[in-house]
Amino acid sequence: MEKRAFIKSYGCQMNVYDATRMADQLRAAGFRVVDEAEGADLVLLNTCHIREKAAEKVYSELGRLKGAVGASGEPTMIGVAGCVAQAEGEEIIRRQPRVDFVVGPQAYHHLPDLIAEAGKGAKPVATDLDEDKFEHLARPNRRSVTARGVTSFLTVQEGCDKFCAFCVVPYTRGAEVSRPMADVMDEALQLVDGGVREITLLGQNVNAYHGADGKGGTVTLAGLVDRLAGIEGLARIRFTTSHPNDMGEDLVLAHRDQPKLMPYLHLPVQAGSDRVLKAMNRKHTAARYSELIARIREARPDLALSGDFIVGFPGESDEDFEATMTLVREVNYASAYSFKYSPRPGTPAASREDQVPAEVASERLQRLQALLTAQQKAFNAGCVGRRVPVLLEKAGRRSDQLVGRSPYLQPVHVPASAGAIGDIVEVAITAAEGNSLFGEVVSERSAAA
Ligand code: SAH
Ligand code: SF4
Ligand code: F3S
Repeated sequence: MEKRAFIKSYGCQMNVYDATRMADQLRAAGFRVVDEAEGADLVLLNTCHIREKAAEKVYSELGRLKGAVGASGEPTMIGVAGCVAQAEGEEIIRRQPRVDFVVGPQAYHHLPDLIAEAGKGAKPVATDLDEDKFEHLARPNRRSVTARGVTSFLTVQEGCDKFCAFCVVPYTRGAEVSRPMADVMDEALQLVDGGVREITLLGQNVNAYHGADGKGGTVTLAGLVDRLAGIEGLARIRFTTSHPNDMGEDLVLAHRDQPKLMPYLHLPVQAGSDRVLKAMNRKHTAARYSELIARIREARPDLALSGDFIVGFPGESDEDFEATMTLVREVNYASAYSFKYSPRPGTPAASREDQVPAEVASERLQRLQALLTAQQKAFNAGCVGRRVPVLLEKAGRRSDQLVGRSPYLQPVHVPASAGAIGDIVEVAITAAEGNSLFGEVVSERSAAA
């Protein structure tokens, strides 16, 4: 009987991408990849270690899975992948002996072997960070590419050398590496051939991309975007996440010169106080960030900005927090993510003695989120009355609707008669509600948005 496998991903988009590559391997190993844990012969948790809550979720999920059985009646094989796997390794099996194997984010090309070993009763742990999994992975298979629909992630860079004082990523994903341009182009062509119209290039520090150009040199992210833009049928290009210090002038100008590059940029600053930024080891000041934003907006005036913020970093005073509020007011974000600082084992900030009391951090987070939500609402409301090109992505919650995305990444709901999935249609925005926009189709267009 065909065995079933279920992958559950937590955390960032890189995990979502990794899950597609792991699913391909499972298919090659004879599994049918299903979308629920119930009755699965293999469950793979693709985990995130970024904050304590994210990491702890995994153990409660493992607790729930303890008694799981597959369609065959045998106990479900349980694997833990992703960043918790990397950070905790064997400790996971000690804490939850039902786990059959552990595989880190740079080692999942070993998945078929690990499953075979685990099937024999061994409890293998593969957490080598120095291997290049992309060299070993088979090309994505055609069926999994078409299953992605019209938008897809594509990891081009992994790991991080920045070592922000709060962050586990340099430890869980390893050193910064870029995939060669030819590999990226090959995968992008395959995606577009399978019907993908929008590609989001991924990396923990995607704008630090410097892939081999095949001629003994390297190419920047702007150079890569330019090459990708030459692919006929690919209408939209996005990238995430960027670091302010790696925002080269060529990438700033690409937002002016490259019509396929969408006018939306996720550029985390984390905090607005220079004292805190220094303690975070961010290596930039608030003024430098603002100056960069000004240059980007000069290149592309309608660019929508998004960011990440941490409140309650050790030693953050009321005054420091007010500096974050000031910066947010000045920049004016179209969307943003904000978090309470969470001490992570092994990171420098975790051992500091001046931790901010939880109630203080909660109160700050509430104030910051209120401001960011108001900015997002104002941005969305400002779109009412405008015309925007929308890439139709999927059926809406209501059968008479389709949902697509604006260039600014907002979900836009339109009548189902608007066009087919994969079309780019010109939409007159009539209403903004919650995080979504609603509109009427004005005319069809299939060129780049
Ligand atoms: N590589 C990206 C994102 C890394 S993780 C970058 O450099 O911006 C995504 C976000 O999680 C971070 O931007 C940060 O805001 C948040 N984060 C990271 N570590 C955290 C911690 N220890 N506590 C709270 N939030 C954290
Ligand atoms: Fe983490 Fe900082 Fe690297 Fe981003 S730049 S992944 S926040 S260490
Ligand atoms: Fe989480 Fe790892 Fe991504 S810690 S945010 S899954 S890089």
